[in-house]
This record gives sequence, C-alpha cells and structure tokens, in this order.
Amino acid sequence: MSEIKAQIIGLGHSVPEGILTNDDLSQIVDTSDEWIYTRTGIRQRRIADANTSTSDLATDAAQKALKDAGIRADQLDMIILGTASPDMVFPASACVVQDNIGAKNAAAFDISAACSGFLYGLSIARGFITSGMATYVLVIGAEVLSKILNFEDRSTCVLFGDGAGAAVLTPSENGKGVLSSFIRSDGAGARSLNMPAGGTRRPTSPETLEKRLHYIHMAGNDVFKYAVRAMGEATRVALEETGTKASDVDLLIPHQANIRIIEATAKRVKIPMDKVFVNLDQYGNTSAASIPIALNEARQQGRIQSGDLVVLVAFGGGYSWGSVAIRW
Ligand SMILES: CC(C)(COP(=O)(O)OP(=O)(O)OC[C@H]1O[C@@H](n2cnc3c(N)ncnc32)[C@H](O)[C@@H]1OP(=O)(O)O)[C@@H](O)C(=O)NCCC(=O)NCCS
Repeated sequence: MSEIKAQIIGLGHSVPEGILTNDDLSQIVDTSDEWIYTRTGIRQRRIADANTSTSDLATDAAQKALKDAGIRADQLDMIILGTASPDMVFPASACVVQDNIGAKNAAAFDISAACSGFLYGLSIARGFITSGMATYVLVIGAEVLSKILNFEDRSTCVLFGDGAGAAVLTPSENGKGVLSSFIRSDGAGARSLNMPAGGTRRPTSPETLEKRLHYIHMAGNDVFKYAVRAMGEATRVALEETGTKASDVDLLIPHQANIRIIEATAKRVKIPMDKVFVNLDQYGNTSAASIPIALNEARQQGRIQSGDLVVLVAFGGGYSWGSVAIRW
C-alpha cells in the first residue's frame, strides 16, 4: 500500500461575461494595446458587473468542482478560499460560499496570501488530508480585483482581472496527488504591493478616500524582479523534493501575472515554453484565481493526462510564493 496523498478529484472555474480589452482601457487611461501586450502579454481581462462579488464567482466555481468530483456539498469537511478581494473584511468569503452551496459540515475560512492563495490553500488541504483530519477539502482561489483597482492609475489597472477557480481534494493511495508543497513569505514585500487603507492601520476616512488608498498600490519593477527569483526558486524546490528533473515536468502552470515573468522563470529552470501553460492573454492577472483557472483550462484542452507531472508555481503580495508538484 503506497503512502496517502491528497489528490485533486474535481475542478471548476468561473469568469464574468464582461470583457475589457486593451483598446477599451486606452479610452480610460493613457495607454495602448501595443504597450500593454508587449510589456505584459495581456490582451483582455474579464470584469465583474456591479452586482457580482468574489463569493459569487467562488460559489459558481465551487459548484462546478463538486459536480466534476461527483460529491455533495455536505460531504465537505473544509472550504479554504484564497483571496485578496473578499466580499467583506469579515466574515470570511469562504463562509458565504459555504452557505450558498449548503456545505453544512465544513469549516470555512479565507487565506490572505494574495496571488499565492490557491497554493497556500492546497498546502493546507494536503496537511489535513494526509494527517487523516479531513476527507474532502474544497480549495478556491477567487477575486473581483476590478473593484479594488484605481482606473486612473495606468501602471496597475491594466494588469488585473476577475475570476475564480476551485479544486476538490481527497485522500488517495494510488500514487496520484500532491507530491510536494512549498510555501514561503517575505513581509518586507508589503511595502511594494499593498492596499494601504481600509484596515486598522489606516481606517477609512475622507482623506484615505480622496488619496485613493483603497486600491491596489504597486512598485511594479521591484515586484517583477523578486517574482522571477522566487518563482525560479519555488520550481527548483518542487523538482528537488520530488527527485525529478526539469525534463520530467509535463506541464508547468505558473501564476499568470506577466508573460515576461513567466518566460524568465521558465528559462531559469530550463523548462521549454511549450511545456508552460499560458492564458493570461485572455484573463490578465486574476491573483489567487489564476492557477486554478489555468489548471482547469489545461485539463479541458487535453494538456494534462493521467500520470503527468504537473508543477504549479506562484508569487504574489506579502510577498508570498510557493510551488506544488502533482502526479496527475
Ligand atoms: C507593471 C509592469 C508591466 C511595468 O513594466 P515595465 O517594463 O517595468 O515598465 P516601467 O514601470 O519601467 O514603466 C515604463 C514606462 O511606461 C509607463 N507606463 C506604465 N504603465 C503604462 C501603461 N499602462 N501604458 C503606457 N505606459 C505605461 C511608465 O509611466 C513609464 O514611463 P516613464 O518612463 O515615462 O516614467 C512590470 O513592472 C510588471 O509586470 N511588474 C510586475 C507586476 C505584477 O505582475 N504584479 C503582480 C505580481 S503577483
């Protein structure tokens, strides 16, 4: 009997219908399709309507993942939701999802690890499952970042989009599932990527509103350089911990922030771009949702087969970063 692993048995994702193209953005701020595409690889992003929140997209993704897994919501022991754009500061958006889907036997909580939230969630799910403390865990990454973007700041508003992705995990003894998980943080990065106001450091006031402090603020260049280093390190750790080589990886699914970050990471770890999944041209950076959306699209497109070695790698605010290697 082989060791117990946490296996993904269902996936789902949800994106809003509204599309905002680079040309649309050039009507709002001083930018162009050419600038955005050459600097980031993004062509368009999905934007939620005024009535749609993070938990709405998360609920849709969760229901699709449960259906794909063939289990009922009341079988879930835990719902972990990674997000930087929750419905409210509290309660957790995971609790809203729990109520929406009727997961009455589940503990539900959010993780604040920005773009790394889904991989942090997978790591926690793995711990609970392999220790025997949970049988069915739902991990979600969901964001409506468009509502915390300053559409007067061209250096941030062109980068991000909305969406959600979800995975159901359960114990397996067939050798399939999570082989390694690695998560790290560097709190010094809080200075380069943050939403300054609306918490207890700078509570909402007329002044914070006027200074546009309730939006994402970012020093793009600092984030860029750190991301390439950290995602390279996290991929290398996944290979070391699984005793595999770059050539053994069937598909690398990196956080979809910027094509130049992805290409630089792939080059560092010597994985050719034809083994790297990219969909950021369609969705932009959906933060915690980017990896589960990409994972589900990769599977739907037949890019992942049974037995494949799939490596997920993320980087985001915190700073936070990590990797998860999966035998599919
Ligand atoms: C944001 C990012 C695309 C900027 O690309 P860059 O090549 O570093 O560009 P710079 O920041 O050096 O800016 C170059 C110029 O373009 C301008 N610029 C910035 N955004 C622009 C836009 N949307 N359209 C046109 N010009 C823009 C800048 O004002 C600057 O002009 P200046 O030289 O006159 O001051 C890049 O730094 C990046 O992707 N960083 C990582 C961001 C990220 O992914 N964060 C999330 C991680 S999870």
